[in-house]
Amino acid sequence: MNVGIIGCGTMGSGIAQVAATANCKVVVYDVNEQALEKSKIALQRILARLVEKGRINQDKSESISSLIIYSADLNDFSDAELIIEAIVENPDIKKSVFQNLESIVSSNCIIASNTSSLSITSLAACLKKPERFIGVHFFNPAPLMKLVEIIPAIQTDAAVLKATRDEIDRWGKTTVQVKDTPGFIVNKVARPFYGEALRIYEEGIADCATIDWAMKTLGGFRMGPFELMDFIGNDVNYTVTETVFKAFYYDSRYKPAFAQKRLSEAGYLGRKSGRGYYNYAEGAVNPSANEDEVLARTILNRVLVMLINEAADTLYLNIANAKDIDLAMCYGVNYPKGLLAWADEIGIQSCVEQLDKLYHEYHEERYRCCPLLRKMSKSNSNFF
Ligand SMILES: NC(=O)c1ccc[n+]([C@@H]2O[C@H](COP(=O)([O-])OP(=O)(O)OC[C@H]3O[C@@H](n4cnc5c(N)ncnc54)[C@H](O)[C@@H]3O)[C@@H](O)[C@H]2O)c1
Repeated sequence: MNVGIIGCGTMGSGIAQVAATANCKVVVYDVNEQALEKSKIALQRILARLVEKGRINQDKSESISSLIIYSADLNDFSDAELIIEAIVENPDIKKSVFQNLESIVSSNCIIASNTSSLSITSLAACLKKPERFIGVHFFNPAPLMKLVEIIPAIQTDAAVLKATRDEIDRWGKTTVQVKDTPGFIVNKVARPFYGEALRIYEEGIADCATIDWAMKTLGGFRMGPFELMDFIGNDVNYTVTETVFKAFYYDSRYKPAFAQKRLSEAGYLGRKSGRGYYNYAEGAVNPSANEDEVLARTILNRVLVMLINEAADTLYLNIANAKDIDLAMCYGVNYPKGLLAWADEIGIQSCVEQLDKLYHEYHEERYRCCPLLRKMSKSNSNFF
């Protein structure tokens, strides 16, 4: 397939590499010629490393390079069959690029956006042919992360959805279909991993090191919430939470935490600034975890049951099917188990009891149990 990529920053460069590795002819376009040069050089470095490690041979490396053309001229997209946009997260700039594009590409060229937070339906609406538009949400780094969320707009043609999903499956990715909803699956369902951990921390039940230890040791998560927020960047993570909170009409389940806002304001952004919840300066001493198993179990159960509630809500609102929700969390954020399968294992009744206990204790909406879980508990049924 002839593929076009718009924007060669972090995501566009990675997606171009993925497409060329799957033998697509790729044109990469950016307004910034320096960014094009940087992306080209970075790809050569990445390919050399892959050859060195024996992941690909020299022929494959040369083939990938020869399949990618870097261009500062949008007219080079005239033969494209699928275009993926990965430019700055600004709806007006994206829409103006899509409108220019429509006068260049053929009538059956699919146009896709890699946006993390904008409504796919609202972007599609700017086109003369909105039925050709779709969301394809890759994760960073695109060549390594297996998951791609495929988000049809309400205008998207069924044939466009099928062709896009088939093609990205062919690229070796695991695709999941998602209804056009803020945060899609991963950025919605993952909110309590951060939000509930922050709440436990703000209440003084445990410190960051103890919460991280509990989630990793008992839960099997690769990173604890605070390590992960420091890795992502507290500014970035806070903005995603705030965006989801606003987009869901201020549902208290997604309410951002002051603890994170203050850190962000202080410039304690995490690893990238040398300090976040932890201090990354050389020789810095960070608090060690209180390895109390009873406390750790309380922490894990509380965060986990809130994650399960969010996953159940995603199914309840028909945002995605149960299999795709579990795949998304395993491949998009490396969770050790799908949350709905985990709920089956714990027992739906126990999940409902734990949520009701939190609700009765706090009298806060954020702890309301998803009606689907309650219904399943009554009928003694499972997700799988
Ligand atoms: N970074 C992530 O972790 C991540 C993950 C998933 C999705 N996304 C989404 O992907 C998109 C790109 O994010 P990124 O992190 O790669 O951004 P980035 O800042 O690394 O790169 C953006 C690129 O777009 C170019 N650009 C800006 N305006 C342009 C225009 N009008 N025409 C052509 N090129 C233009 C810039 O020169 C830059 O090279 C955003 O919509 C973002 O929400 C990002």
